[in-house]
Amino acid sequence: MYFKIVRELKKKYSKNVILYLEDKVEICSFISEENKLLLGKVIEEKKFRGKMGETLETSFIQYGNLINMILVGVGKEKEATRDSIIKALYKALVGSSGEVIVSSEEEKLKNIDAIAEATYHINYKFDRYKTKEIEREPLIIEYFDPEAGGSIVEGEILGKAINIARDLVNEPANVIYPKTLAMEAATIGSEYGFDVEIFEEYEIGEIGMEALLAVARAAEKRPRLIVMRYFGDKKNPDKITGLVGKGLTYDTGGLSLKPTDSMLEMKSDMGGAATVIGAMSAASKMKLEKNIVGVIAACENSIGGNAYRPGDVIGSMAGKTIEITNTDAEGRLTLADAVTYIIRKEKVSEVIDIATLTGGIVVALGTTVTGVFSNNDSMYSKLEKSGEVYGEKLWRMPLFDDYKELIKSDIADLKNSGGRWGSAPSAAKFIEEFSEGIPWMHIDIAGTAFLSGAKDYFSKGATGNMVRSIYGYLKAK
Ligand code: BES
Ligand code: MN
Ligand code: ZN
Repeated sequence: MYFKIVRELKKKYSKNVILYLEDKVEICSFISEENKLLLGKVIEEKKFRGKMGETLETSFIQYGNLINMILVGVGKEKEATRDSIIKALYKALVGSSGEVIVSSEEEKLKNIDAIAEATYHINYKFDRYKTKEIEREPLIIEYFDPEAGGSIVEGEILGKAINIARDLVNEPANVIYPKTLAMEAATIGSEYGFDVEIFEEYEIGEIGMEALLAVARAAEKRPRLIVMRYFGDKKNPDKITGLVGKGLTYDTGGLSLKPTDSMLEMKSDMGGAATVIGAMSAASKMKLEKNIVGVIAACENSIGGNAYRPGDVIGSMAGKTIEITNTDAEGRLTLADAVTYIIRKEKVSEVIDIATLTGGIVVALGTTVTGVFSNNDSMYSKLEKSGEVYGEKLWRMPLFDDYKELIKSDIADLKNSGGRWGSAPSAAKFIEEFSEGIPWMHIDIAGTAFLSGAKDYFSKGATGNMVRSIYGYLKAK
Protein backbone atom coordinates (compact mmCIF):
# COMPACT_ATOMS: atom_id res chain seq x y z
CA MET A 1 0.00 0.00 0.00
CA TYR A 2 1.79 3.13 -1.19
CA PHE A 3 -1.29 5.32 -1.27
CA LYS A 4 -3.77 6.29 1.43
CA ILE A 5 -6.71 8.63 1.56
CA VAL A 6 -6.82 10.19 5.02
CA ARG A 7 -9.56 12.05 6.82
CA GLU A 8 -7.19 13.62 9.31
CA LEU A 9 -3.78 15.18 8.91
CA LYS A 10 -0.80 13.97 10.87
CA LYS A 11 1.42 16.51 12.52
CA LYS A 12 4.53 15.38 10.72
CA TYR A 13 5.16 14.42 7.10
CA SER A 14 8.53 14.08 5.44
CA LYS A 15 7.21 16.41 2.75
CA ASN A 16 4.15 18.53 2.26
CA VAL A 17 3.45 18.65 -1.48
CA ILE A 18 1.15 21.24 -3.03
CA LEU A 19 0.17 21.10 -6.70
CA TYR A 20 -0.26 24.34 -8.67
CA LEU A 21 -1.51 25.43 -12.06
CA GLU A 22 0.69 27.85 -13.95
CA ASP A 23 0.26 31.49 -12.92
CA LYS A 24 -2.28 30.54 -10.28
CA VAL A 25 0.08 30.38 -7.35
CA GLU A 26 -1.75 31.30 -4.20
CA ILE A 27 -0.75 30.39 -0.70
CA CYS A 28 -2.99 27.74 0.73
CA SER A 29 -5.37 28.37 3.54
CA PHE A 30 -3.89 26.10 6.21
CA ILE A 31 -0.71 28.14 6.51
CA SER A 32 -0.36 30.49 9.46
CA GLU A 33 -0.29 34.26 8.86
CA GLU A 34 3.39 34.70 9.59
CA ASN A 35 4.38 31.79 7.34
CA LYS A 36 2.18 33.15 4.57
CA LEU A 37 4.39 36.20 4.59
CA LEU A 38 7.53 34.07 4.50
CA LEU A 39 6.27 31.78 1.76
CA GLY A 40 5.08 34.73 -0.31
CA LYS A 41 8.57 36.22 -0.21
CA VAL A 42 10.22 32.92 -1.16
CA ILE A 43 7.83 32.43 -4.10
CA GLU A 44 8.51 35.96 -5.27
CA GLU A 45 12.26 35.71 -4.97
CA LYS A 46 12.51 32.28 -6.63
CA LYS A 47 9.97 33.33 -9.29
CA PHE A 48 7.95 30.11 -8.85
CA ARG A 49 5.11 30.26 -11.38
CA GLY A 50 3.78 26.70 -11.39
CA LYS A 51 5.11 25.79 -14.80
CA MET A 52 5.03 22.10 -15.72
CA GLY A 53 7.69 20.26 -13.75
CA GLU A 54 8.77 23.35 -11.79
CA THR A 55 9.35 22.81 -8.06
CA LEU A 56 10.15 24.98 -5.07
CA GLU A 57 11.24 23.53 -1.74
CA THR A 58 11.29 25.43 1.51
CA SER A 59 10.95 24.68 5.22
CA PHE A 60 9.41 26.55 8.14
CA ILE A 61 8.09 26.01 11.61
CA GLN A 62 4.36 25.94 12.07
CA TYR A 63 2.72 25.37 15.47
CA GLY A 64 6.01 23.90 16.69
CA ASN A 65 6.49 21.44 13.81
CA LEU A 66 8.98 21.61 10.99
CA ILE A 67 7.13 21.67 7.66
CA ASN A 68 9.11 20.71 4.56
CA MET A 69 6.99 22.17 1.82
CA ILE A 70 7.41 21.45 -1.84
CA LEU A 71 5.40 23.40 -4.38
CA VAL A 72 4.95 21.52 -7.65
CA GLY A 73 3.88 23.07 -10.95
CA VAL A 74 1.64 21.16 -13.35
CA GLY A 75 1.43 23.81 -16.08
CA LYS A 76 -1.42 25.64 -17.75
CA GLU A 77 -4.98 24.58 -17.00
CA LYS A 78 -5.63 22.94 -20.36
CA GLU A 79 -2.33 21.04 -20.20
CA ALA A 80 -3.02 19.80 -16.69
CA THR A 81 -4.06 16.26 -17.53
CA ARG A 82 -3.98 12.98 -15.62
CA ASP A 83 -0.67 12.31 -17.34
CA SER A 84 0.95 15.65 -16.53
CA ILE A 85 0.00 15.35 -12.85
CA ILE A 86 1.80 11.99 -12.77
CA LYS A 87 4.79 13.47 -14.60
CA ALA A 88 5.07 16.45 -12.26
CA LEU A 89 4.73 14.35 -9.10
CA TYR A 90 7.24 11.83 -10.35
CA LYS A 91 9.77 14.52 -11.15
CA ALA A 92 9.30 16.15 -7.75
CA LEU A 93 9.33 12.98 -5.64
CA VAL A 94 11.39 10.29 -7.36
CA GLY A 95 14.05 9.06 -4.93
CA SER A 96 12.18 10.37 -1.86
CA SER A 97 10.91 8.12 0.88
CA GLY A 98 8.72 8.26 3.97
CA GLU A 99 5.23 9.65 4.26
CA VAL A 100 4.30 12.68 2.23
CA ILE A 101 1.01 14.49 1.97
CA VAL A 102 -0.22 15.77 -1.38
CA SER A 103 -2.89 18.41 -1.73
CA SER A 104 -4.09 21.16 -4.01
CA GLU A 105 -6.65 23.90 -3.97
CA GLU A 106 -7.33 23.46 -7.70
CA GLU A 107 -10.28 21.19 -8.55
CA LYS A 108 -8.49 20.00 -11.67
CA LEU A 109 -5.48 18.86 -9.69
CA LYS A 110 -7.50 16.99 -7.07
CA ASN A 111 -7.11 13.91 -9.24
CA ILE A 112 -6.91 11.02 -6.81
CA ASP A 113 -6.35 8.48 -9.60
CA ALA A 114 -3.36 10.31 -10.99
CA ILE A 115 -1.84 10.88 -7.55
CA ALA A 116 -2.35 7.24 -6.55
CA GLU A 117 -0.88 5.92 -9.78
CA ALA A 118 2.13 8.24 -9.53
CA THR A 119 3.04 6.60 -6.22
CA TYR A 120 3.48 3.27 -7.98
CA HIS A 121 5.75 4.72 -10.67
CA ILE A 122 7.84 6.54 -8.08
CA ASN A 123 8.30 3.39 -6.01
CA TYR A 124 8.92 1.04 -8.92
CA LYS A 125 12.32 -0.59 -8.93
CA PHE A 126 13.64 -3.87 -10.22
CA ASP A 127 16.65 -4.62 -8.05
CA ARG A 128 16.01 -8.05 -6.63
CA TYR A 129 19.19 -9.44 -8.15
CA LYS A 130 21.41 -6.77 -6.56
CA THR A 131 22.94 -8.50 -3.56
CA LYS A 132 24.38 -5.35 -2.01
CA GLU A 133 21.52 -2.94 -2.56
CA ILE A 134 20.69 -0.84 0.49
CA GLU A 135 17.02 -1.12 1.47
CA ARG A 136 15.26 2.12 0.70
CA GLU A 137 12.11 2.98 2.57
CA PRO A 138 9.17 3.30 0.19
CA LEU A 139 7.44 6.57 -0.50
CA ILE A 140 3.94 6.64 0.88
CA ILE A 141 1.58 9.30 -0.41
CA GLU A 142 -1.34 10.40 1.70
CA TYR A 143 -4.13 12.42 0.20
CA PHE A 144 -6.28 14.51 2.48
CA ASP A 145 -10.01 14.24 1.94
CA PRO A 146 -12.26 14.66 4.98
CA GLU A 147 -15.22 13.15 3.11
CA ALA A 148 -13.39 10.17 1.73
CA GLY A 149 -15.26 6.91 1.39
CA GLY A 150 -13.66 3.51 1.47
CA SER A 151 -13.90 2.73 -2.24
CA ILE A 152 -11.03 1.26 -4.28
CA VAL A 153 -9.00 3.87 -6.14
CA GLU A 154 -8.72 2.98 -9.82
CA GLY A 155 -5.36 4.75 -10.18
CA GLU A 156 -3.93 2.56 -7.45
CA ILE A 157 -5.13 -0.63 -9.12
CA LEU A 158 -3.73 0.57 -12.45
CA GLY A 159 -0.39 1.40 -10.82
CA LYS A 160 -0.23 -2.11 -9.39
CA ALA A 161 -1.32 -3.72 -12.67
CA ILE A 162 1.32 -1.81 -14.65
CA ASN A 163 4.01 -2.87 -12.18
CA ILE A 164 2.87 -6.51 -12.44
CA ALA A 165 3.45 -6.29 -16.19
CA ARG A 166 6.80 -4.53 -15.71
CA ASP A 167 8.08 -7.15 -13.27
CA LEU A 168 7.14 -10.00 -15.60
CA VAL A 169 9.00 -8.35 -18.48
CA ASN A 170 12.05 -7.29 -16.45
CA GLU A 171 12.56 -10.80 -15.10
CA PRO A 172 15.23 -12.54 -17.17
CA ALA A 173 14.36 -15.47 -19.44
CA ASN A 174 16.07 -17.98 -17.14
CA VAL A 175 13.47 -17.07 -14.51
CA ILE A 176 10.37 -16.39 -16.61
CA TYR A 177 9.87 -19.16 -19.16
CA PRO A 178 6.58 -20.70 -20.32
CA LYS A 179 6.00 -22.82 -17.22
CA THR A 180 6.89 -20.08 -14.70
CA LEU A 181 4.94 -17.47 -16.69
CA ALA A 182 1.93 -19.76 -16.42
CA MET A 183 2.50 -20.18 -12.69
CA GLU A 184 2.76 -16.40 -12.24
CA ALA A 185 -0.47 -15.91 -14.19
CA ALA A 186 -2.20 -18.41 -11.90
CA THR A 187 -0.94 -16.70 -8.74
CA ILE A 188 -1.92 -13.24 -10.01
CA GLY A 189 -5.29 -14.59 -11.16
CA SER A 190 -6.14 -15.89 -7.70
CA GLU A 191 -5.12 -12.61 -6.11
CA TYR A 192 -6.93 -10.34 -8.58
CA GLY A 193 -9.97 -12.46 -9.33
CA PHE A 194 -9.71 -14.22 -12.69
CA ASP A 195 -9.51 -17.94 -13.49
CA VAL A 196 -6.45 -19.45 -15.09
CA GLU A 197 -6.25 -22.71 -17.03
CA ILE A 198 -2.91 -24.04 -18.21
CA PHE A 199 -2.49 -26.45 -21.12
CA GLU A 200 0.57 -28.69 -21.34
CA GLU A 201 2.37 -29.47 -24.57
CA TYR A 202 0.45 -32.70 -25.33
CA GLU A 203 -2.83 -30.81 -24.96
CA ILE A 204 -1.56 -28.06 -27.28
CA GLY A 205 -0.85 -30.86 -29.75
CA GLU A 206 -4.34 -32.29 -29.35
CA ILE A 207 -5.85 -28.87 -30.11
CA GLY A 208 -3.76 -28.81 -33.29
CA MET A 209 -1.67 -25.70 -32.67
CA GLU A 210 1.02 -26.74 -35.14
CA ALA A 211 2.42 -23.27 -35.77
CA LEU A 212 2.99 -22.68 -32.05
CA LEU A 213 4.65 -26.10 -31.70
CA ALA A 214 6.96 -25.42 -34.66
CA VAL A 215 8.28 -22.24 -33.03
CA ALA A 216 8.57 -23.96 -29.64
CA ARG A 217 10.28 -27.08 -30.97
CA ALA A 218 13.97 -26.41 -30.34
CA ALA A 219 13.75 -24.94 -26.85
CA GLU A 220 14.63 -26.85 -23.71
CA LYS A 221 11.85 -24.94 -21.93
CA ARG A 222 8.60 -26.43 -23.18
CA PRO A 223 5.57 -24.35 -24.23
CA ARG A 224 2.34 -23.71 -22.35
CA LEU A 225 -1.01 -22.33 -23.43
CA ILE A 226 -2.32 -20.00 -20.76
CA VAL A 227 -6.05 -19.21 -20.74
CA MET A 228 -7.41 -16.57 -18.35
CA ARG A 229 -11.12 -16.00 -17.89
CA TYR A 230 -13.09 -13.26 -16.21
CA PHE A 231 -16.86 -13.15 -16.62
CA GLY A 232 -18.28 -9.97 -15.11
CA ASP A 233 -21.28 -9.63 -17.42
CA LYS A 234 -23.45 -12.66 -16.84
CA LYS A 235 -26.37 -11.03 -18.65
CA ASN A 236 -24.54 -11.04 -21.98
CA PRO A 237 -22.67 -14.33 -21.98
CA ASP A 238 -22.01 -14.15 -25.74
CA LYS A 239 -20.32 -10.79 -25.57
CA ILE A 240 -16.69 -11.61 -24.85
CA THR A 241 -13.58 -9.59 -25.58
CA GLY A 242 -10.60 -11.79 -26.36
CA LEU A 243 -7.12 -10.58 -25.50
CA VAL A 244 -4.18 -12.41 -27.04
CA GLY A 245 -0.67 -11.58 -25.83
CA LYS A 246 2.55 -12.53 -27.59
CA GLY A 247 4.33 -14.74 -25.09
CA LEU A 248 7.82 -15.36 -26.45
CA THR A 249 9.71 -15.71 -23.17
CA TYR A 250 12.87 -15.39 -25.27
CA ASP A 251 13.48 -14.75 -28.95
CA THR A 252 16.91 -15.79 -30.26
CA GLY A 253 15.56 -15.47 -33.80
CA GLY A 254 15.85 -19.25 -34.18
CA LEU A 255 18.08 -20.51 -37.02
CA SER A 256 17.71 -17.03 -38.56
CA LEU A 257 19.71 -16.09 -35.48
CA LYS A 258 19.74 -12.54 -34.17
CA PRO A 259 23.05 -10.76 -33.47
CA THR A 260 23.88 -10.40 -29.75
CA ASP A 261 22.90 -6.75 -29.49
CA SER A 262 19.40 -7.42 -30.86
CA MET A 263 19.06 -10.47 -28.63
CA LEU A 264 19.91 -8.58 -25.42
CA GLU A 265 16.44 -7.18 -24.89
CA MET A 266 14.58 -10.25 -26.13
CA LYS A 267 13.49 -11.33 -22.65
CA SER A 268 10.91 -8.58 -23.30
CA ASP A 269 9.34 -10.52 -26.18
CA MET A 270 6.56 -11.60 -23.82
CA GLY A 271 5.61 -7.94 -23.31
CA GLY A 272 2.22 -8.50 -24.95
CA ALA A 273 1.51 -11.39 -22.57
CA ALA A 274 2.47 -9.21 -19.60
CA THR A 275 0.16 -6.45 -20.84
CA VAL A 276 -2.73 -8.91 -21.09
CA ILE A 277 -2.07 -10.19 -17.54
CA GLY A 278 -1.86 -6.59 -16.26
CA ALA A 279 -5.04 -5.46 -18.02
CA MET A 280 -6.94 -8.53 -16.82
CA SER A 281 -5.74 -7.91 -13.26
CA ALA A 282 -7.04 -4.34 -13.33
CA ALA A 283 -10.32 -5.29 -15.02
CA SER A 284 -11.09 -8.05 -12.54
CA LYS A 285 -9.99 -6.09 -9.45
CA MET A 286 -12.22 -3.20 -10.57
CA LYS A 287 -15.01 -5.74 -11.11
CA LEU A 288 -15.82 -4.46 -14.59
CA GLU A 289 -19.16 -5.74 -15.84
CA LYS A 290 -17.54 -7.26 -18.90
CA ASN A 291 -16.56 -10.70 -20.12
CA ILE A 292 -12.89 -11.05 -20.93
CA VAL A 293 -10.79 -14.02 -21.99
CA GLY A 294 -7.01 -13.73 -22.23
CA VAL A 295 -4.83 -16.20 -24.11
CA ILE A 296 -1.05 -16.52 -24.12
CA ALA A 297 0.74 -19.02 -26.33
CA ALA A 298 3.95 -19.08 -24.29
CA CYS A 299 7.14 -20.47 -25.78
CA GLU A 300 10.79 -19.75 -26.49
CA ASN A 301 12.25 -19.30 -29.98
CA SER A 302 15.53 -21.16 -29.72
CA ILE A 303 18.04 -23.01 -31.88
CA GLY A 304 18.97 -26.68 -32.05
CA GLY A 305 19.11 -29.71 -34.29
CA ASN A 306 15.35 -30.05 -34.23
CA ALA A 307 14.60 -26.38 -34.80
CA TYR A 308 12.12 -25.34 -37.48
CA ARG A 309 14.01 -24.10 -40.52
CA PRO A 310 13.81 -21.39 -43.15
CA GLY A 311 12.21 -23.21 -46.09
CA ASP A 312 10.01 -25.52 -44.00
CA VAL A 313 6.27 -25.64 -44.58
CA ILE A 314 4.24 -25.94 -41.39
CA GLY A 315 0.55 -26.27 -40.52
CA SER A 316 -1.63 -24.25 -38.17
CA MET A 317 -4.69 -24.74 -36.00
CA ALA A 318 -6.79 -22.94 -38.63
CA GLY A 319 -5.63 -25.45 -41.24
CA LYS A 320 -3.68 -22.93 -43.32
CA THR A 321 -0.20 -23.94 -44.43
CA ILE A 322 2.74 -21.59 -43.92
CA GLU A 323 6.09 -21.45 -45.64
CA ILE A 324 8.79 -20.34 -43.23
CA THR A 325 10.99 -17.73 -44.88
CA ASN A 326 12.51 -16.40 -41.66
CA THR A 327 12.44 -18.16 -38.29
CA ASP A 328 12.76 -14.76 -36.59
CA ALA A 329 9.23 -13.90 -37.77
CA GLU A 330 7.98 -16.28 -35.06
CA GLY A 331 5.55 -14.08 -33.14
CA ARG A 332 2.88 -14.05 -35.84
CA LEU A 333 2.97 -17.88 -35.96
CA THR A 334 2.23 -18.22 -32.26
CA LEU A 335 -0.35 -15.41 -32.46
CA ALA A 336 -2.09 -17.00 -35.45
CA ASP A 337 -2.75 -20.16 -33.45
CA ALA A 338 -3.69 -18.23 -30.30
CA VAL A 339 -6.16 -16.11 -32.30
CA THR A 340 -7.69 -19.23 -33.87
CA TYR A 341 -7.92 -20.84 -30.42
CA ILE A 342 -9.60 -17.84 -28.80
CA ILE A 343 -12.14 -17.49 -31.64
CA ARG A 344 -13.00 -21.16 -32.06
CA LYS A 345 -12.70 -22.53 -28.54
CA GLU A 346 -13.42 -19.53 -26.33
CA LYS A 347 -16.05 -18.10 -28.71
CA VAL A 348 -15.03 -14.48 -28.25
CA SER A 349 -17.01 -11.85 -30.13
CA GLU A 350 -14.01 -9.61 -30.80
CA VAL A 351 -10.27 -10.06 -30.46
CA ILE A 352 -7.34 -7.80 -29.67
CA ASP A 353 -3.78 -9.05 -29.93
CA ILE A 354 -0.88 -7.26 -28.28
CA ALA A 355 2.66 -8.05 -29.32
CA THR A 356 6.26 -6.94 -29.47
CA LEU A 357 5.98 -7.96 -33.09
CA THR A 358 8.22 -6.01 -35.45
CA GLY A 359 11.34 -3.90 -35.61
CA GLY A 360 9.52 -2.14 -38.45
CA ILE A 361 7.05 -0.46 -36.10
CA VAL A 362 9.97 0.97 -34.12
CA VAL A 363 11.47 2.40 -37.33
CA ALA A 364 8.08 3.88 -38.27
CA LEU A 365 6.87 5.31 -34.95
CA GLY A 366 9.83 5.34 -32.55
CA THR A 367 9.83 4.28 -28.93
CA THR A 368 7.00 6.37 -27.52
CA VAL A 369 4.14 5.68 -29.93
CA THR A 370 2.37 2.34 -30.30
CA GLY A 371 1.17 1.13 -33.70
CA VAL A 372 -2.40 -0.14 -33.99
CA PHE A 373 -4.06 -2.01 -36.86
CA SER A 374 -7.73 -2.87 -37.04
CA ASN A 375 -10.41 -4.10 -39.41
CA ASN A 376 -12.99 -2.25 -37.32
CA ASP A 377 -13.29 1.55 -36.94
CA SER A 378 -15.27 1.57 -33.71
CA MET A 379 -12.76 -0.72 -32.00
CA TYR A 380 -9.94 1.59 -32.99
CA SER A 381 -11.72 4.75 -31.94
CA LYS A 382 -12.55 3.28 -28.55
CA LEU A 383 -8.89 2.46 -27.97
CA GLU A 384 -7.82 5.86 -29.27
CA LYS A 385 -10.08 7.61 -26.76
CA SER A 386 -8.80 5.45 -23.94
CA GLY A 387 -5.22 6.22 -24.93
CA GLU A 388 -6.01 9.94 -24.68
CA VAL A 389 -7.48 9.56 -21.20
CA TYR A 390 -4.44 7.71 -19.88
CA GLY A 391 -1.74 9.53 -21.84
CA GLU A 392 -0.58 6.56 -23.91
CA LYS A 393 0.19 7.54 -27.49
CA LEU A 394 -1.01 5.32 -30.28
CA TRP A 395 -1.41 5.64 -34.04
CA ARG A 396 -3.47 3.77 -36.58
CA MET A 397 -1.54 1.97 -39.31
CA PRO A 398 -2.85 0.70 -42.68
CA LEU A 399 -3.98 -2.76 -43.72
CA PHE A 400 -4.15 -2.34 -47.50
CA ASP A 401 -4.32 -5.49 -49.59
CA ASP A 402 -0.91 -4.53 -50.98
CA TYR A 403 0.55 -5.98 -47.80
CA LYS A 404 -1.22 -9.28 -48.41
CA GLU A 405 0.84 -9.60 -51.61
CA LEU A 406 3.98 -9.56 -49.48
CA ILE A 407 3.02 -12.69 -47.58
CA LYS A 408 1.89 -14.82 -50.53
CA SER A 409 3.89 -18.00 -50.88
CA ASP A 410 4.66 -19.98 -54.04
CA ILE A 411 4.23 -23.32 -52.34
CA ALA A 412 1.94 -22.76 -49.33
CA ASP A 413 -1.09 -20.65 -48.33
CA LEU A 414 1.08 -17.97 -46.73
CA LYS A 415 4.70 -17.25 -45.95
CA ASN A 416 5.66 -15.94 -42.53
CA SER A 417 7.94 -13.07 -43.51
CA GLY A 418 7.10 -10.37 -46.02
CA GLY A 419 10.65 -8.99 -46.00
CA ARG A 420 11.96 -5.66 -44.78
CA TRP A 421 9.70 -3.11 -46.44
CA GLY A 422 6.40 -2.57 -44.70
CA SER A 423 7.27 -5.28 -42.21
CA ALA A 424 4.88 -4.04 -39.51
CA PRO A 425 1.80 -3.95 -41.79
CA SER A 426 2.65 -7.24 -43.50
CA ALA A 427 2.97 -8.88 -40.06
CA ALA A 428 -0.41 -7.42 -39.08
CA LYS A 429 -1.87 -8.67 -42.36
CA PHE A 430 -0.59 -12.15 -41.54
CA ILE A 431 -2.50 -12.17 -38.24
CA GLU A 432 -5.60 -10.71 -39.90
CA GLU A 433 -5.67 -13.82 -42.10
CA PHE A 434 -6.61 -15.75 -38.94
CA SER A 435 -9.27 -13.35 -37.63
CA GLU A 436 -12.15 -15.18 -39.36
CA GLY A 437 -14.00 -11.96 -40.12
CA ILE A 438 -14.73 -10.94 -36.52
CA PRO A 439 -13.81 -7.45 -35.21
CA TRP A 440 -10.05 -7.57 -34.68
CA MET A 441 -7.34 -5.19 -33.57
CA HIS A 442 -3.58 -5.70 -33.45
CA ILE A 443 -1.34 -3.61 -31.21
CA ASP A 444 2.40 -3.62 -31.98
CA ILE A 445 4.30 -2.58 -28.85
CA ALA A 446 7.80 -3.53 -30.06
CA GLY A 447 8.94 0.07 -29.60
CA THR A 448 7.06 0.96 -26.42
CA ALA A 449 7.20 -2.11 -24.15
CA PHE A 450 10.83 -1.76 -23.10
CA LEU A 451 12.85 1.43 -22.69
CA SER A 452 16.63 1.49 -23.12
CA GLY A 453 16.72 4.67 -21.00
CA ALA A 454 14.42 6.39 -18.50
CA LYS A 455 11.58 8.43 -19.99
CA ASP A 456 9.01 10.63 -18.22
CA TYR A 457 7.79 8.63 -15.23
CA PHE A 458 9.22 5.32 -16.43
CA SER A 459 12.60 4.05 -15.37
CA LYS A 460 14.74 2.10 -17.83
CA GLY A 461 13.37 -1.32 -18.76
CA ALA A 462 9.78 -2.52 -18.99
CA THR A 463 6.97 0.04 -19.16
CA GLY A 464 3.74 -1.95 -18.90
CA ASN A 465 2.64 0.15 -21.86
CA MET A 466 -0.99 -0.34 -23.00
CA VAL A 467 -2.16 -1.90 -19.71
CA ARG A 468 -4.12 1.31 -19.05
CA SER A 469 -5.39 1.86 -22.60
CA ILE A 470 -6.66 -1.70 -22.84
CA TYR A 471 -8.22 -1.48 -19.39
CA GLY A 472 -9.95 1.76 -20.46
CA TYR A 473 -11.09 0.06 -23.65
CA LEU A 474 -12.61 -2.81 -21.69
CA LYS A 475 -14.28 -0.44 -19.28
CA ALA A 476 -15.80 1.76 -21.99
CA LYS A 477 -17.53 -0.94 -23.97
N1 BES B 1 10.53 -9.88 -31.32
C1 BES B 1 10.91 -9.37 -32.59
C2 BES B 1 10.48 -7.91 -32.79
C3 BES B 1 11.15 -6.88 -31.94
C4 BES B 1 12.19 -6.13 -32.43
C5 BES B 1 10.67 -6.59 -30.67
C6 BES B 1 12.78 -5.15 -31.64
C7 BES B 1 11.27 -5.62 -29.88
C8 BES B 1 12.32 -4.91 -30.37
C9 BES B 1 10.26 -10.20 -33.69
O1 BES B 1 10.06 -11.53 -33.39
C10 BES B 1 11.16 -10.15 -34.87
O2 BES B 1 12.24 -10.66 -34.79
N2 BES B 1 10.69 -9.54 -35.96
C11 BES B 1 11.44 -9.42 -37.15
C12 BES B 1 10.59 -9.91 -38.28
C13 BES B 1 11.32 -10.04 -39.59
C14 BES B 1 12.25 -11.21 -39.55
C15 BES B 1 10.33 -10.20 -40.71
C16 BES B 1 11.78 -7.95 -37.36
O3 BES B 1 10.89 -7.11 -37.18
O4 BES B 1 12.92 -7.65 -37.67
MN1 MN C 1 11.70 -12.75 -33.81
ZN1 ZN D 1 9.85 -12.02 -31.43
